[in-house]
Amino acid sequence: MFNDDVLLNKPIVETDPLYQFLNTCSRSFKQFKILDTAIKRGFFNHLDEWKSAVDLAKELGTNPDLTDCICMSLAEIGFIEQSGEVFKNSELSTCYFKSESPYFQGEVLFNIKNGFSLWERLDEVIENGPIKVSEADYFKDNLIHSLASEIMCGELQKTTSLIASLPEFSRAEKLLDLGGGHGLYSVALSRLNQNLEIDIYDFADVIEATQKYLEKYDGHRIDLKPGNLFMDAIGNDYDLVLFSYNPGGKNPELVPKIFSALKEGGLFISKHIFYGKDEGSRDPLLDLEYNLSDFEGVKKGRKIYSFARDLTFEAYLSLLEQYFTIAQIVETEDFATEPLSKFGDALEAKMIIAKKKAKKQYVERDEVEAIGG
Ligand SMILES: C[S@@+](CC[C@H](N)C(=O)[O-])C[C@H]1O[C@@H](n2cnc3c(N)ncnc32)[C@H](O)[C@@H]1O
Repeated sequence: MFNDDVLLNKPIVETDPLYQFLNTCSRSFKQFKILDTAIKRGFFNHLDEWKSAVDLAKELGTNPDLTDCICMSLAEIGFIEQSGEVFKNSELSTCYFKSESPYFQGEVLFNIKNGFSLWERLDEVIENGPIKVSEADYFKDNLIHSLASEIMCGELQKTTSLIASLPEFSRAEKLLDLGGGHGLYSVALSRLNQNLEIDIYDFADVIEATQKYLEKYDGHRIDLKPGNLFMDAIGNDYDLVLFSYNPGGKNPELVPKIFSALKEGGLFISKHIFYGKDEGSRDPLLDLEYNLSDFEGVKKGRKIYSFARDLTFEAYLSLLEQYFTIAQIVETEDFATEPLSKFGDALEAKMIIAKKKAKKQYVERDEVEAIGG
């Protein structure tokens, strides 16, 4: 493997794959820091018109030479335009990096950085185990804000238009958004059905953040219900229950609970990442990220988005079929957007649309089972 004189002989094994990998890491990390700093310092809020780095630096109170390097790097990535010595926002930076834009992605970068700070502790975690975090804090401090910004880029609009196309939606009067977080699905759906009254259910601490979204997006006919959906009542008489990306999404105990919360013929719309029987990892890197931390409440499983009490996709469907008729299963590509290699990626999620069976149907089933059918 090694030559006699390593100073005179280059390695037999080519360095290329290693150096290409390290180069990508090295460049991507630095480019991420450039973008993050530029967003934090408001570069993009000042680049609607062509401007030199010197003028930009004057407005921002930054060092002109370094500001020039940052602008040139941003132009090299394609985030801003460059003409000689002047720079201007591109369509992309106007849309996603200006803090006043409705599609501003600052929270997503913040979320990725939060992830990095956990990754920084990998060496400690592999020895001592995952870092304990409060579930409510984990969601409210940043994740739901990042998810809100992420879904604004397509998943929100696609999901709500799929739901709005269901005949039951236009007739619905009461919807429960279970674990609604930011509440953006609710606000969008309330605009698509003017008769719809909505309850958003989430941890009390998270609900405070939800309130801010309702104010920001002028949400009407929406109530906030604080509670822990595993432990507390979730209400009843709903025409629709929306359950999107929740730790309880594959939990068997919640199926009868959601069933009871619905009116007869009501729809249960569940959007989750389900694992098939005997299915292995979908992404070991994300499994690892997921297990860098541990929730104080529900026990996580080994694969990302899995929990100790989860059912497999097959078992969950068969449980659902005891209470509901499966109307439709929508595949990821019909609602999800680009992944970010982090918690929040849709990873072959499915949206199951299930209709609550009429009382007669499930009573008959119980009777058949009771007599051994
Ligand atoms: C991943 S976020 C999803 C938010 C939103 N439904 C979406 O799809 O973008 C999960 C949400 O479920 C809430 N949640 C998790 N466990 C919960 C529980 N036991 N009771 C109530 N809400 C819960 C979290 O606070 C968070 O807002």
